[in-house]
This record gives sequence, C-alpha cells and structure tokens, in this order.
Amino acid sequence: MVSLSREAQDKEMGTEDYAISLRNLYKVFGPDPDQAMQLLSEGEGKDEILESTGNTVGVHDASFDVEPQEIFIVMGLSGSGKSTLLRCVIRLIEPTHGSIFLDGEDVTEMDDGQLRQLRREKTGMVFQQFALFPHRKVIDNVAYGLEIQGVSRKERHRNSAEILDTVGLSGWEDYYPENLSGGMQQRVGLARALVHDPSIMLLDEPFSALDPLIRRDMQQELLDLQKRLNKTMLFITHDLDEALRLGDRIAIMNDGEIVQIGTAKEIITEPADDYVANFVQDIDRAKILTAVDVATAEVPVLRQDHSVSGAWQEISETDAFYVVLTDEHRRLIGMVYSHDIRAQLENGSVSLDPLPIHEMERVSLERPVEDLFPLLSTNSSHPLAVVDRDGRLEGVVDASSLVSGLTKDGEVPRGASQ
Ligand SMILES: Nc1ncnc2c1ncn2[C@@H]1O[C@H](COP(=O)(O)OP(=O)(O)O)[C@@H](O)[C@H]1O
Ligand SMILES: [Mg+2]
Repeated sequence: MVSLSREAQDKEMGTEDYAISLRNLYKVFGPDPDQAMQLLSEGEGKDEILESTGNTVGVHDASFDVEPQEIFIVMGLSGSGKSTLLRCVIRLIEPTHGSIFLDGEDVTEMDDGQLRQLRREKTGMVFQQFALFPHRKVIDNVAYGLEIQGVSRKERHRNSAEILDTVGLSGWEDYYPENLSGGMQQRVGLARALVHDPSIMLLDEPFSALDPLIRRDMQQELLDLQKRLNKTMLFITHDLDEALRLGDRIAIMNDGEIVQIGTAKEIITEPADDYVANFVQDIDRAKILTAVDVATAEVPVLRQDHSVSGAWQEISETDAFYVVLTDEHRRLIGMVYSHDIRAQLENGSVSLDPLPIHEMERVSLERPVEDLFPLLSTNSSHPLAVVDRDGRLEGVVDASSLVSGLTKDGEVPRGASQ
C-alpha cells in the first residue's frame, strides 16, 4: 500500500461527502501542454499562450464541490471551457492536471475498465445535439446503453418503457426520432441518460437547440423530474436565465477559469467582477430576490403590552405613521397608527389596548419580490409584514424598501423615497 503524500491527502480532504469534486483541474489542447502549464504558472494569459505556443487553454485551475442531489450550473460564453470541463469529469477528455472525484472516488486514477463501469453505472450524459440513432426506434435509442451491456431485450425494453413514461413519452416507443419534435427528441435524450438509473447527470446545453417556448417547458420538466428522481446534475448552459431558473448554485466561467460560484441571489447581488456584472445587469431582480431581501427592520416595533407613553417616546423620534405590534414572542399582531397613539396619549390613557389594530398582509420570507408589487399597490398605504413560519416578524416591505432593495448597490434613486 503506497501512502499518500501530504499534498495528495490534502487534495482528497472532504471529497467523499460530495457527488462531484474538482481540484485544480486544467486542460490544455495543443502540441505542448507542459509548456503552456509552465507559462500559466508564470501568470501568462490564454491569448498570449495561444499566440506564443499554439496551445489552447481550455480549462484553467477549476475547483468546486457539488452536493449530492444538487443542480449545479456551469455558465459562460461560448468558448469559455464549459464542455471541456464537463467532458473531463468522466475523462471523455483527459485532463492535463488536477483531480476529479465522484462520490469520493478519484476518476483520474481509474483504469479503462473502471472508467467504462463508471460511465455505465454512475453517470448519464445529455448532449445539445440530441445525438439519437435515426434508424433506431425511440425505445431502442433509450435501451442502447443497456443493450451494449448485454441486458436482455425483455428487461431493457421494460426499463426503457418505464423511463419513457417518466419523461412523458409513453406511447412513442415504436416511432423513429424523425417523427418527433425537437423537444420530444430531447426527452428521448433524457430518457437514454436516465435508463440505467445513474446518480449523476452530466448535461451539456441540453436545451440550447430548442425554441424558447419549448426550452421553458423542458426546464420545467427537468425541475419536475428532479423532484421525483433526485439526481446530482452538472448542467452546462450559456443562458443566464436558464442558469438562474434551474441552478441551486451557479459557477461562472470566463476564459477557462471559474470566476464565481454562488446562488442566483449571490451572483446577482454581488457579482465578482465586470464579466459577471455584465451578464447580470439586465436580469430582472424582482424574479430572483425574495421578500426578506427587500424588507426593512427600521420600523418601530412594539410589544402589545407597551405603555402609551413608552410607545410615543419610541415613535416620536421617527416619522413613521404606524407602529407594528407583536406579542412577547415577536409574533405579528398588526399595526397601529401613530396618530391614534398620539390621541390616546393626549387622552391621558396608559394602555395601547383600546386602540384600533389594523391588519397587515403577511408574506413569507421566500415570497418572490415580483409578487409583492400587486400586494403593495392594492393596499398602498399599508406596508407588508414579512413573517417566518411561526408568524414572527422579520421586517416590513414598503414602497421605499422595495425600491432600494431592487437597486443594485442598495441606494435609493433620487425621488423614489418620500
Ligand atoms: N479538441 C480541441 N482542440 C483544440 N482546442 C479545443 C478543443 N476543444 C475545445 N477547444 C478549445 O477550448 C476552449 C474551450 O472550448 P469549449 O470547452 O468547447 O467551450 P464552451 O463549451 O464553453 O463553448 C475553446 O477555446 C476551444 O476552441
Ligand atoms: Mg460547449
């Protein structure tokens, strides 16, 4: 048994908890990858290296971990290295340097037999150009992988029919690909990748060749499938909307390098550099951000058992026209108008109790911001109360917090706040 070097041990640390881990992955195409690697380590860029050596840097020091059952998106412009990266994961392209772990197993250490087994059992791949056999029926396209494994006709047809049903193509088994629309053909592509029940799906721009409306359907279909099948998905796209819609997390690639990894929210609100900022500048933040992102906590909140004079003291320093009342566990009760409190104070009353309590519309933390606009405008003078599952107040959303939450750097544009 060869003991691992210190560096190798460090590299493997923690990888067993992830479905996919890349560690310092490089791929250089061309006559002299070693020379290119040397130049990269000296800080030279992709373009200079191509010019001076004729080598193309496809992937440049990519590292990330994908959680089991996560949909992890790799997004970038054409030529940024996405397909190369994906193919390196199961060594359809041999990496120049670095390690790949699937469920903690080092793929770069596998021999041909182990690799074949890995691709047959653990992973399924879907391509942009559906890559179906034109002269095979739908069912035999799906069954192809099982056929070359020597699975009996009866069994592979049973499995294939089952998975065709899962992707909504029941009844199409005996048709040929040319009889199917693009969207349906890609369902066959999905079924083919799923038929051996892999835990990891590798999808290289699977919907990019489809018309926009069909693409949206397929995206929804994939999300629905994922609820039932719970696969780990490494999903490549050049389309930011698709990335934001599907991804639990998104890695953004530029010139072979991963420049940012984050949730949709993180990418949109804190782009790591100009490349990412450029991508996200036209995104409708109202679709990505949720109530908790645009809520403000800077409103007077009082417990119901507050005294009137205490309440007045707190609100007199603000220009708020209302206070929010909660119980002792910070659970929302409703709102009381400041002028009612003031009147009560002038009456000489000590208790808030008799004051009229107005209802507030409750929204959950995760409610998309785009839903909040109509709620605010139908009840324009009342802010919305953002509450957690137990009804506890997290903050309120009003027109001004909404606008400032949606503005890039959190600044309220002039004239937007009153
Ligand atoms: N077989 C190859 N030989 C040489 N260069 C390649 C090869 N495959 C890809 N490349 C180059 O590697 C870079 C990344 O390509 P690719 O991974 O296909 O990008 P993407 O999928 O993001 O469009 C590009 O500059 C491309 O020209
Ligand atoms: Mg590609």
